[in-house]
Amino acid sequence: MTFAQNISLRPYNTFGIDALARYFATFSDGAALSALLSKAPAGAKFVLGGGSNVLLTKDIDGLVLKNEVMGIETVAEDEDYAYVRVGAGEIWHRFVQHCINHDLGGVENLSLIPGCVGASPMQNIGAYGVEIKEVFQDLEAFHLSDGTIERFSLNDCAFGYRDSVFKNKYKGQFAILHVTFRLRKQPVYNVSYGAIEHELERMGARELSLRAVSDAVIRIRTAKLPDPKVIGNAGSFFKNPIVSSAVYERLHTEFPSLPAYPAAQEAYVGSGSDADLAPGAMKLSAGWLIEQCGWKGYRTGDAGVHERHALVLVNYGHARGQEIYDLSEEILRSVKAKFGVVMEREVNII
Ligand code: FAD
Ligand code: EPU
Repeated sequence: MTFAQNISLRPYNTFGIDALARYFATFSDGAALSALLSKAPAGAKFVLGGGSNVLLTKDIDGLVLKNEVMGIETVAEDEDYAYVRVGAGEIWHRFVQHCINHDLGGVENLSLIPGCVGASPMQNIGAYGVEIKEVFQDLEAFHLSDGTIERFSLNDCAFGYRDSVFKNKYKGQFAILHVTFRLRKQPVYNVSYGAIEHELERMGARELSLRAVSDAVIRIRTAKLPDPKVIGNAGSFFKNPIVSSAVYERLHTEFPSLPAYPAAQEAYVGSGSDADLAPGAMKLSAGWLIEQCGWKGYRTGDAGVHERHALVLVNYGHARGQEIYDLSEEILRSVKAKFGVVMEREVNII
């Protein structure tokens, strides 16, 4: 078995960063991964999906394993739900479309999120009032050091806001192979995000349907977020910071137009890493904080802050990952200096 060597990862990350992988291989199931690992050179292993949530700040001196486990299959049904098992290498939006075509509800608000299904539980991806923890049933993951396959239930994953056990306790230890989702046969629409209702009206949608909600989300996203095929980016670079009610009150007094909303800890009680949120905690809009610091539309060399959305850092062409990282450091420092708020990166820094 041979491993491709010194492969440019530029086509494999949406930032379009030209870092090298010392070794590179793809796998399509657990057996193939096991066979690869038995022959793999010693050193670090890194599992890659669509590369839409990574910033490569250096070459990877190890083996990059591109997940290509495919398949979308309904494995069980009861009166209310269909349980759909999906290969981790499937494109997330293809899975969303599959659900819409089969009248299965739950992921329509998550339309057009880039990347693959395997990364969705890593990040507990979310948009427009929905996170995947709400439709998650379980997943199967391959332990990279001993080759065993473990099953993780909802509670095992400790989902939080863009967070899970795979970003913390088990960081870098597993390759997720399959994820099973629990989808509603009778959709319950979630259009509580004002922008969706507004968009549905603009579309002239007469009644709610999975496709109408999905189309509305697609239209909002397309208008707001840069297309990585046109300009390199990884979506929101930072998380929206969560602060205590006391900190929020102080900021709100000084900056009355600061956008903020309750951090919704009740959704997590007992099951996730956000369960510890203090009552009254507020989520602030990172995009607003960054814009107020004057960064929106800023450019240095080929690294920049998007002109329409200050939370999105961009690569105009040939920026190095380290240049984008350095810019993110400056942004963090300025937000801390102006507002006293410490933000966190959302993108995985490699
Ligand atoms: P990658 O970038 O390939 O990997 C991300 C991390 O997961 C890495 O640490 C990698 O090692 C790990 N990983 C990937 N696959 C596996 C696996 N099978 N097993 C184990 N570990 C794995 N995210 C949102 O939540 N909401 C949004 O609205 C949103 N909008 C976006 C908009 C744009 C324009 C872009 C570019 C990104 C956006 N994102 C959003 C971020 C991104 O799409 C998601 O985080 C997505 O789930 C990443 O999937 P991926 O396959 O590209 O992961
Ligand atoms: N805003 C500004 N200036 C900006 C951008 C935003 O002031 O340049 C303010 C506005 O007040 C706006 C508010 O921020 O109303 C919120 O902006 P937006 O609706 O775009 O949402 P967001 O909080 O920036 C989050 C997620 C997105 C997700 C959307 C929709 C995070 C880190 N980001 O963005 O997820 O798609 O909500 O639910 O939680 C991602 O994770 O990559 C991502 C794109």
